[in-house]
Amino acid sequence: MLSFNTSLSPNSNAFALFVSEKYEYKDPRSILSKDTSKKVNLFLRSLKEKSQKDEISSFDISDKKKCFIIKIKAKHEKSYFEEVGGSFYTYVKSYKTINLIDIYADSLNDDKEKLCKNFSEFIFGVNLKSYTFNKYKTSKKEKIGSNVECKIVTINKKSIENNYKYYSSIKEGIFLTRDLVSEPPNILNPKTYVQEIKKLSKLGLKIKAYNEKELKKLGLNALLGVGLGSDNETYLVTIEWNGKKGSKEKPLAFVGKGVCFDTGGISLKPPRFMEEMKYDMAGSAVVVGLLKSLALRKAKINAVGVVGLVENMPGGKAQRPGDIVKSYSGKTIEILNTDAEGRLVLADALSFTEKKYKPKFIIDLATLTGAIIMSLGEEYAGLFSNDDELSENIFQSSKNVNEKVWRLPLHKNYDKLMNSTIADVQNINYVGGAGAITAAQFLQRFILNKTPWAHLDIAGMAFSKKAANLNPGGATGFGVRLLNNLVKEYYE
Ligand code: BES
Ligand code: ZN
Ligand code: ZN
Repeated sequence: MLSFNTSLSPNSNAFALFVSEKYEYKDPRSILSKDTSKKVNLFLRSLKEKSQKDEISSFDISDKKKCFIIKIKAKHEKSYFEEVGGSFYTYVKSYKTINLIDIYADSLNDDKEKLCKNFSEFIFGVNLKSYTFNKYKTSKKEKIGSNVECKIVTINKKSIENNYKYYSSIKEGIFLTRDLVSEPPNILNPKTYVQEIKKLSKLGLKIKAYNEKELKKLGLNALLGVGLGSDNETYLVTIEWNGKKGSKEKPLAFVGKGVCFDTGGISLKPPRFMEEMKYDMAGSAVVVGLLKSLALRKAKINAVGVVGLVENMPGGKAQRPGDIVKSYSGKTIEILNTDAEGRLVLADALSFTEKKYKPKFIIDLATLTGAIIMSLGEEYAGLFSNDDELSENIFQSSKNVNEKVWRLPLHKNYDKLMNSTIADVQNINYVGGAGAITAAQFLQRFILNKTPWAHLDIAGMAFSKKAANLNPGGATGFGVRLLNNLVKEYYE
């Protein structure tokens, strides 16, 4: 919820003012007192003389109030105002004592429509950066002590509220993704995850969870095999959004890897950083967050999310290296390494989605390989696709929202490396090298009807120990904005 004011609050510790590149601003309603505007003008003149490069600067109006100057470039990228919002929040937070700030929204010389849209994006950036996950902190101080309340000073309340509705629905989706990824694995297991997803049915999403008995009957043995070593039951959940009622249009399908914890199974991972494997369900969390956003903004499309939820544990009933399973597609898979489990989850989820929904396209997201982190680090997600148009659309959207992706090749020579001597396919490539690509080749084998398909390997993007401009560190929610933009720009 945004909070508004028509004038500066007497009890705020600061106010923020947007100025142009030439340090100009307008104040037609004289929101600033004579004395304040005098001080502001003096400060702006000094910035101009110093030809100050920083986009945000500040000075003390009095011993009780600070003034933040936000300099706005005339020429900028599409996600510029969000980025400025993120930087602004970081800047303000560095002053520990500020807890109430007035942001004057009307001071740029733009038409009303542009002003309100840009300002909404700015607030979106502020909000994305201000995310916290502190539900397990017991000290009150840490829980609420660090909040900064923003009051928007404007005469365009209605218009900003209308513009912000869209961004708020995206924010809600991203925050859900971040919350799910941040939950510890003793709290978020496949069953409790299903319960969380079911809460979304109140937004008009149709949710069905398939339990182990149903999955066995359907033959999703690749997915089920991953969960054999865990006491927690495995699920596959479908989330349908019917925003184009009465239309026979094929849905857009989003599939996510939801490994609630990945120990590696019998091919056990080393202990160092194993705790990070709680975020091995991030692909599924992006799908869930995206569908929440689409429902909240009542997107005029039909879409479906499909997530495989499972825990990869080395229990007594766990699958072994050497096991062969018959997947939902009918293809047999030789398991050579139980730590290459994400592709087994996705194999069944992909074939199931293609057969049941006959979608226009399928995009899957997964924290699939360590190899993609070796290639692209924490800057780009890996993109793989059998379709140039879908791939190009994803690439353009990634630029629109600054969630970067980089396409890597698929080729029959990589595909060959996944041939098994005694089954149809094996789950790792023994030749070595190209680990992210051969994982994608494995997935491609489970697209049976040439449906346009793209795979996003988000292993390097889902979680970051470092903070970035639009997130405070931890779960990033990478992918929600990207796919929402793709839907909006190309398919809605
Ligand atoms: N969940 C991991 C991939 C991963 C690694 C995600 C690091 C995030 C950070 C995946 O299930 C896995 O273990 N992949 C193996 C595959 C290998 C056995 C072929 C890997 O990448 O090492
Ligand atoms: Zn693994
Ligand atoms: Zn995994």
